[in-house]
Amino acid sequence: MNLSHSILLVDDEENVLSSLKRILIDDNVRVVTSSSPLEAIQLVKSQKISVVISDNMMPEMKGIDLLEKIKLISPDTTRIMMTAYADLTTAIDAINRGEVYRFITKPWDNQEFRDITSEAIARYVLISSLRHADETTILSLAQTIELKDPYTRGHCERVAHYALLLSEHLGLSDEKQKLIKYGSYIHDCGKIGVPESVLNCRGKLTDEQMEIVKNHSRWGADLARTANLPDTVISIILYHHERYDGNGYPYGIKGDEIPLEAKIVNIADMFDALTSDRPYRDRLSRGDAIDIILECRETALDPRIVDAFIKIISEAQNG
Ligand SMILES: [Fe+2]
Repeated sequence: MNLSHSILLVDDEENVLSSLKRILIDDNVRVVTSSSPLEAIQLVKSQKISVVISDNMMPEMKGIDLLEKIKLISPDTTRIMMTAYADLTTAIDAINRGEVYRFITKPWDNQEFRDITSEAIARYVLISSLRHADETTILSLAQTIELKDPYTRGHCERVAHYALLLSEHLGLSDEKQKLIKYGSYIHDCGKIGVPESVLNCRGKLTDEQMEIVKNHSRWGADLARTANLPDTVISIILYHHERYDGNGYPYGIKGDEIPLEAKIVNIADMFDALTSDRPYRDRLSRGDAIDIILECRETALDPRIVDAFIKIISEAQNG
């Protein structure tokens, strides 16, 4: 972190503001505090704020309303809500509607507060860079995300490779292919919101952890939307875990409701996952991976896409 980042803390209780400010004292960030939501709005209008962390229950205005206003004024600013347990439903609802990035429960844990703040800054950097992104920037951002999860190193470039072979085979335009390449690079960018402990979990994930992982499509799409990325890229991020039979996530859409670009990246992602080592198993041979893909024909995967994919993979192997 560096001092170019400003964090705005909003709480009607001054002592909360000073304790929170103290936690971030060693983190090389500029901390701005306000006990008034109306003043906070003026602060966001007059200076660049990377992250805003707001209490919810305040007499002047609810935190959720404040964060909604800030979203309009400064869409790149990462919004975090602090909330008491009693208010948890509001917080989760706000996350699902994309109004806030994360919530922190009161009383807070100091380390957790620092971790979430630092991830929120990373999210801000990601959005502001994506906004002006060229290919090199996008790839290096994707590699930053991969660093969080050592098992996926090199994954996004390989996914892009398979996705491009398939797109070319299907006769997609050069422009579409370029967007599919970008989408492949950052299809998992929502993982920036998934805690490292969950990403690197070696055992089976709990239901709650699984829910967090499943949110990465929506979080990522929200991020890409905020950065004004093209629709093709957004739909790759949002729909790359949907299944042909409707049993995927986040929406459970099926068949032709799933955009072609998402199906292309989905099969490329699956093939690369099967042929790479994972925390819970060793890599499969290409032949075994193809068998699994064939088993998913008409269940998880669109039969037309499977047939085309098998064709290009066999051609690539023979050529
Ligand atoms: Fe994913």
